[in-house]
Amino acid sequence: MPVTEYDDKVLVTLPSDASTQFTVLKYGATVVSYKTKGHENLFLSQAAKLDGSKPVRGGIPLVFPVFGKESDESNPLSKLPQHGLARNSYWEFLGESSSADDSIAIQFGLYPDIANAELTSLWDNDFTLVLTLELSPNSLRTHIEVENPIKSSKDLKFNWLFHTYFQIDDIEDTFVTNLTGSNVYDQLMKSDYIDKFPVIQFTEEFDKIYSNVKDDIFTQIVDRGEVLHTLKKKQLPDLVVWNPWIEKSKGMADFEPKSAYQKMVCVEAGHVKDYITLKPGQKWFGEQTLCEEALTYQAI
Ligand code: BG6
Repeated sequence: MPVTEYDDKVLVTLPSDASTQFTVLKYGATVVSYKTKGHENLFLSQAAKLDGSKPVRGGIPLVFPVFGKESDESNPLSKLPQHGLARNSYWEFLGESSSADDSIAIQFGLYPDIANAELTSLWDNDFTLVLTLELSPNSLRTHIEVENPIKSSKDLKFNWLFHTYFQIDDIEDTFVTNLTGSNVYDQLMKSDYIDKFPVIQFTEEFDKIYSNVKDDIFTQIVDRGEVLHTLKKKQLPDLVVWNPWIEKSKGMADFEPKSAYQKMVCVEAGHVKDYITLKPGQKWFGEQTLCEEALTYQAI
């Protein structure tokens, strides 16, 4: 069976090759595993909670309606915890949306009636989210559609982000490419600058937002010349690059082993520098695709 639904998760296998598959938890609609020909692409902490008691430390958590913590107290989004409510809500499994010999897609939905009630009580807005996850032999496409329902009485303002944790062999051998020339906001130094380095390298805690990255730029995670992962995107102008390094890893109870910062890097495609605003009845979509590509240098 290409799609198997369990109480807490859904397993999807490629019709033509069961060793290419992904698993998505209903909690957060979080993809917790994505394997191509048996090879795991995503990092998942050994101490990640998969029981709905907290957002998953690994895989692809979904960030909505706010990225990080909104500090402006006059903004209603400031009432929500870091990264919003989608990753802390049980989503509805909507079933298979398409299948072919070499691809299969499923969908999940989230709306206030089923979202985390403690969190929706802090932020009184109507919304409909439909997440489509499509598996092909060499790719996993994740597509989000956000709608401000026509019956809503106000505008919907939100951020969106796919918070992807990629599995790597060794952070000190890893480069992230093709972001040269982007505007950067360093979340640790609280400073803005233009990135002039040909590649991103990691030697300490790293937490930066690369903004206005054009959709024809694709980001690659490269280990000594070998491309481990390629990320393509649509309508997602910002890329957050994050590695907690040693001290921050120690402070995260669900991050184990503590040395695992060497085995992961987050490259997160989203719309986070500005809020998207939808009037009642309007829709927006954003999309990322994790895929395989040869090493490509795209100077900006
Ligand atoms: C990243 C942020 O997206 O998520 C970091 O840029 C943050 O600042 C990280 O530390 C993890 O967040 P959380 O809430 O899952 O611990």
